Amino acid sequence: MYRTDIARPIRLTDYRAPDFVIPETRLAFDLHPTQTQVKATYRIERRGAADAPLVLLGERLILKTLRLDGVEVAPEAYALTPECLTLSGVPDRFTLEIDVEINPQDNKMLEGLYMSSGRYCTQCEAEGFRKIVYFPDRPDVLSKYTVRLRAPKAGFPRLLSNGNLIDSGEEGAFHYAVWEDPFPKPAYLFALVAGELDVLEDRFVTMSGRTVDLKIFVDPGMSARAAYAMDALKRSMRWDEETYGREYDLDLFMIVAVRDFNFGAMENKGLNIFNASLLLADAQTATDLDYERIESVVAHEYFHNWSGNRVTCRDWFQLCLKEGLTVFRDQSFSGDQRGHAVQRIKDVKMLRARQFPEDAGPLAHPVRPATYLKIDNFYTATIYEKGAEIVGMLKTVVGAETYRRALDHYFETHDGTAATLEDFLSSFEAVTGQDFSPWLKWYVQAGTPVLSLSATYDGDTQRLTLTVSQMTPPTPAQAHKAPVPIPVRLGLLSGAGAPLSFRFAGETVPEALFVLTEARAQWVLEDVTEAPVISALRGFSAPVKLTLTEPEAHRFARFRGDPDPFNRWEAAQSLAKALILDPHGAAADYAEALRATLTDPTLDAAFKALMTGLPTEMDLAQSLTPVDPAFIHTRRKAFKAELAAALKTDAEALYAALPAETTFSPDAASAGRRALRNALLDLIVAAPDSDADRSEATSDQAGAQAVRRPEGEAPLERDAAKPLSAKQKIAKAHYHDARNMTDMMAGLSALSQIHGAAYQDALEDFYARFKSEPLVLDKWFAVQAACPHPETLSRVRRLITHPDFDRKVPNRWRAVAQAFAANNPAIFHDASGEGYAFIAEEILSVDRFNPMTAARLIEAFGGFKRYAEPHRGLMQAVLERILGTEGLSKNVAELAGKALAG
Ligand code: BES
Ligand code: ZN
Repeated sequence: MYRTDIARPIRLTDYRAPDFVIPETRLAFDLHPTQTQVKATYRIERRGAADAPLVLLGERLILKTLRLDGVEVAPEAYALTPECLTLSGVPDRFTLEIDVEINPQDNKMLEGLYMSSGRYCTQCEAEGFRKIVYFPDRPDVLSKYTVRLRAPKAGFPRLLSNGNLIDSGEEGAFHYAVWEDPFPKPAYLFALVAGELDVLEDRFVTMSGRTVDLKIFVDPGMSARAAYAMDALKRSMRWDEETYGREYDLDLFMIVAVRDFNFGAMENKGLNIFNASLLLADAQTATDLDYERIESVVAHEYFHNWSGNRVTCRDWFQLCLKEGLTVFRDQSFSGDQRGHAVQRIKDVKMLRARQFPEDAGPLAHPVRPATYLKIDNFYTATIYEKGAEIVGMLKTVVGAETYRRALDHYFETHDGTAATLEDFLSSFEAVTGQDFSPWLKWYVQAGTPVLSLSATYDGDTQRLTLTVSQMTPPTPAQAHKAPVPIPVRLGLLSGAGAPLSFRFAGETVPEALFVLTEARAQWVLEDVTEAPVISALRGFSAPVKLTLTEPEAHRFARFRGDPDPFNRWEAAQSLAKALILDPHGAAADYAEALRATLTDPTLDAAFKALMTGLPTEMDLAQSLTPVDPAFIHTRRKAFKAELAAALKTDAEALYAALPAETTFSPDAASAGRRALRNALLDLIVAAPDSDADRSEATSDQAGAQAVRRPEGEAPLERDAAKPLSAKQKIAKAHYHDARNMTDMMAGLSALSQIHGAAYQDALEDFYARFKSEPLVLDKWFAVQAACPHPETLSRVRRLITHPDFDRKVPNRWRAVAQAFAANNPAIFHDASGEGYAFIAEEILSVDRFNPMTAARLIEAFGGFKRYAEPHRGLMQAVLERILGTEGLSKNVAELAGKALAG
């Protein structure tokens, strides 16, 4: 079906402006599950050479008729291939009418027009519009759309598309609706939805006094669960007005939730489409993390209305122009809503967990790649997260006010057009008069720069001399790297851990911003009254790896009292990393510092929760070569147990002092308290059982033996008949007493860490309660796939035979496959290779119908060269097996090929 042998890379240097523009597009859909008729009418104008043919892209379409200025085009006058329709000798201005037929029901790639839960919906970014009708499907062809939808009244009462509803009516058993979007847009922003949906409605008055109708469409009966998304939407709209001066531009803004969706959400003009998991929430079914994500994704897609829709991308190489900027905007919004310190730590965790490994492995690519086979493969952490970091650095160096002027300039200058990254940087040049071309290196150069810092202190002159240098390691196809501008926010602490001011550039300051633009530099700080502890890269002012040789005591000083909360957390994490990876690393001092943090009344709960979390196994894998997953797992577990034992009394007391709340509020402060309580639970269950716990436990024996099992399932737990330990009792009570999904999942996940009868019991209870709630059932699958017990290898094999498992629903598939491959390193990397084999089979199964979703899992094998044997060889063999499979999609072939070659 796919011919990978003929795949030709697309290159940025091959970009040519389009030969034809299409100022107006009319579409008429006669919706039918297997035979939808699409009629397109385009007003076309030539912009390029007089002899250039008109090339329209289209895939999986049945061409019915083709009319030019009302006259049917004879078959000899056009050329048709599986990917395009070419007409030669067309006039300079003409109208083209195209009729095609498509099959939404059969579309399991979930790209183009497809059906989900009996409804029609679309996903066009990046290149899905060509699966609906022939069109120059590229983001620099902007067109004004008028769309007519027609469907049976029964079953499809709602007919939605972009823009404003301008007409509707009935035709017997059918009805129709006509939508007009006054803003020219690229085809990837087109959307339609038809089906039965409930709606939650609200209103928003914009800063200029216009009233906008807000409508969120969801599964029948679910509209109450859209209330939080609605609230987040209104806050996003206000925030974009207040922070960026950007107002919404249509009279109607709609969001639709769908169950079958390849990604999180999509910013179609005036009609965002969301994965239901990122829209629907109530206390009983969604966790605080779900609420947090809903808030940020609603904001993200809304913010695209300016950064992406009003100003769009000239070509897909510029993807980060909209994604990097919009992620930066949603992160700033979340920071304003929930606290910047905690938000920054979470964003950096994510950057390090996903983007740093990508940048260090065979799939490394620049934020603006130079070539690609399938653009779907480039919706990566690098484009999103590193792209956002670059915007953040620009803001740091120019300051908030200048940044705002630069963005105003960018939006105003490029409104209604398709822009490039150079255009973005030009706006900074326009408002500052400075040269921003060195910043382009961040976009075109892959790899994470290493920033080295060393300090010499002269007590006589009270001078601190910092010697800084940078080096970016080679990445595939980029052996040599130039220096990039690196902003370094830096402060000092005294040996006792108190802030220490200094003199720089003639001023006494508590902190300074330096920008390293060359390979090497020296910075001299004066009036430094003692040999200081250096707090560099505060707030993670640049996405680099910092190396600074210093005594352990300095890190402890920052852990205990860096006024920069990010660096306080960073110090703790780097200490934990070093102690865990050292086979003799002891937890005593670390426990003392953490105790001080946990009992500090001036720190907020969300921050304490983050401080309580140890680096993940994935974090640790990045600091060890070659990677030995079993060593990491064992050492982390041992260190955590030691830490938990040392803090047992405090953790239990603090836990008891934070009773579960009886009423649920999703606000940041309440969520922070729950996060801390749940982090304490996680620590409590990590402690080894004391003798006292063990003797006390015997009294519960009877209860534990009464576990029932689903028929046909062999007893899983060798320890099933053992009495419940004290910590099992705590986790069990936590689960059973939970009044909301956050606490329930924390209890379930704590039980999964301990494993045993209480865990099995809770799983059965959970299933019974939530079997008819797909979004919650996804969590049930995911928690089992992520359980770090060796039994999980056989459990995931059983999960894929469960009647509720369905590979065709990406959420459900990811709940098993992704949760296992990405969140269960110890078992995924089992030395038997069974984990790898399982994921390889899953990738190949899903690739047959949904290549885009399948390909995303190749990432799990990306770093194989860094692993110790037998992992390295086993992962390589699996990649080779995948690549050698007949009928492989371009998507998977591109990534598996790169992973092997890199
Ligand atoms: N434009 C994207 C949606 C998209 C993703 C289209 C991949 C085609 C391929 C949307 O704005 C987006 O970025 N969605 C993210 C979530 C977001 C909050 C980072 C997603 O879907 O993961
Ligand atoms: Zn986006």
